[in-house]
Amino acid sequence: MSERIPQDFIDDLIERADIGEVIGRRVEIKKAGKEFKACCPFHNEKTPSFTVSPEKGFYHCFGCGAHGTALGFLMDYERLTFVEAIEEVAKMLGVNVPKRKEDIAKSKERSSLKGLLQNISSYYEQNLKDSNKAIKYLKSRGIDGKTAKHYALGFSKDSWDDITNKFGATQEDKKKLLACGLLIEKDDGGFYDRFRNRLMFPIKNNKGEIVGFGGRIIDDEEPKYLNSPETSLFKKGELLYGLYESKKSIADQRKAIIVEGYTDVIGLYQNKIGNSLATLGTATTEIHINKIFRISDQIIFCFDGDNAGKKAAKKAMELCLPLVRKNKEARFLILEDDDPDDFIRRKGFKAFEKLIKEAQSMDEFLINLCNQESDISSIKGKANAAENAMTLANKIRDGIYKDLLIKRIAQEYDLPEEKLMKYHASNKKNTSNKSFSGSTSKKVSSQTKRPSLIKQAIQILLHKPELARTIIDISNQFNFIDEKGIDIFREIARLVNEKDKVKLATIIEHFPDPKLQGYLSKLATEQNLINDNELASEFDDIIKRLNIQDQRKELTSLISKAKKGSLNDNDQNRLKELSKK
Ligand code: UTP
Ligand code: MN
Repeated sequence: MSERIPQDFIDDLIERADIGEVIGRRVEIKKAGKEFKACCPFHNEKTPSFTVSPEKGFYHCFGCGAHGTALGFLMDYERLTFVEAIEEVAKMLGVNVPKRKEDIAKSKERSSLKGLLQNISSYYEQNLKDSNKAIKYLKSRGIDGKTAKHYALGFSKDSWDDITNKFGATQEDKKKLLACGLLIEKDDGGFYDRFRNRLMFPIKNNKGEIVGFGGRIIDDEEPKYLNSPETSLFKKGELLYGLYESKKSIADQRKAIIVEGYTDVIGLYQNKIGNSLATLGTATTEIHINKIFRISDQIIFCFDGDNAGKKAAKKAMELCLPLVRKNKEARFLILEDDDPDDFIRRKGFKAFEKLIKEAQSMDEFLINLCNQESDISSIKGKANAAENAMTLANKIRDGIYKDLLIKRIAQEYDLPEEKLMKYHASNKKNTSNKSFSGSTSKKVSSQTKRPSLIKQAIQILLHKPELARTIIDISNQFNFIDEKGIDIFREIARLVNEKDKVKLATIIEHFPDPKLQGYLSKLATEQNLINDNELASEFDDIIKRLNIQDQRKELTSLISKAKKGSLNDNDQNRLKELSKK
């Protein structure tokens, strides 16, 4: 994404950004020496362990481990996209974000489509007010005018060309309607309305802008539901119905309920449950879950008891395994023969709340599922269930929760925990991901071995970027070392040498790859074993050792060249020089 905004602009912006102000405008922070302290906005705590360092341009919570730059904070806390976060910081500094011509045109086009969708939604809303049939339908489902207004519900007339005529006067208008999915093109080049005789559910993005519609048929026709097609604005794998409307309630309670249908969200709201959301008739994705975890600590998946619902719950659990962590949990509620809308209408708020409280924890759900999927009355079936449970447990991040779950699995299947752990360890090799610093096996042993020289060098630069100035002529150094990470080290050193001042945040945001950003941020928060005033000498020492490594590699390559007889004059001189050393 960042190729859209010149990296040089981002570097300067982050260098100038005042993270104290960015966070201070949103969270109550107190000055503590050179830093600020606050109660962490990402987890519940009473004593402040959230620290903001303007000098580094970086925040870190020692309680939950949350950390990042001003941009990262805005993305996590305000749920902004990267570009939106850049724009916000730029606004605070009173500068304009440079945009490419194509981007200006594209964003103009997008906002014109969003404007059109908003106008059509208002028109549908008016239609609803004018339609006895639609109002009667809503009433029959127990939905009142206030709820209808909250979700901006509307009605599309029983007509093939109502929208085409009202909003598609010119050919260009029709093209726009087509682009946002409101019209369908006929074979002969003509158009007709996609949504007819339907209760209309506008679907909004994060910012509350309408990006598409869902429509439910009012009479007995097929299909029951129809959605906007995927368009440049409407991406089902990312959007959640009701997110904009429920955002506040979710953030207040730190809990979100995911249900299957639009009418479930609306029925729950009508009955005072304001924190539910629905996917758009598609499976839950990782993007959905991450989006919700930004504003909530708990996700309750509340699915129907039919086969489709059970399958969806299982899939959601598998997705959640690697995403749950301290203060981010998932729970599961399978309604046996109702959907949430029917249930709450028949049994009321209290009964539904009780169900939610009793939702299964992820561990219970996981074990129950494994038990259902194998015949655990036989030894083979039990072994199978235990293996399946371990495979799933292995997807969870290392930590207390995982350890306790494994213990629980051992109990469930009457197996010695050490045996299970052994299985777990051999499985882990295949699942844990690799970092640039080395292969999996190296990573596992990194607690005992010292980290690689490059990694140490990078870590020191993250703490004290100005040390990179002590390296002479960085662009001509370390050309022979082929260790992973050397390119990153050189790039950091080059950046520091090019600018007057560089802080940690600038270094992190200099690399567009989110994985690499995450790695560098993590490295920066690791307890630094080296004393602050020994950083310079330690760095110097590492550079010397890297130089020796580099020269050895160069020497080896010259010797093999010499064997082939392909040395030129320069090479010969260099070989002599290096051999002496
Ligand atoms: P359901 O069939 O469970 O409907 O579909 P519902 O939400 O209970 O709807 P009501 O109460 O009968 O009005 C759940 C979701 O699946 C998608 C829609 O997003 C719906 O909200 N769906 C369903 C479709 O996309 N197309 C369909 O034909 C049916
Ligand atoms: Mn329903």
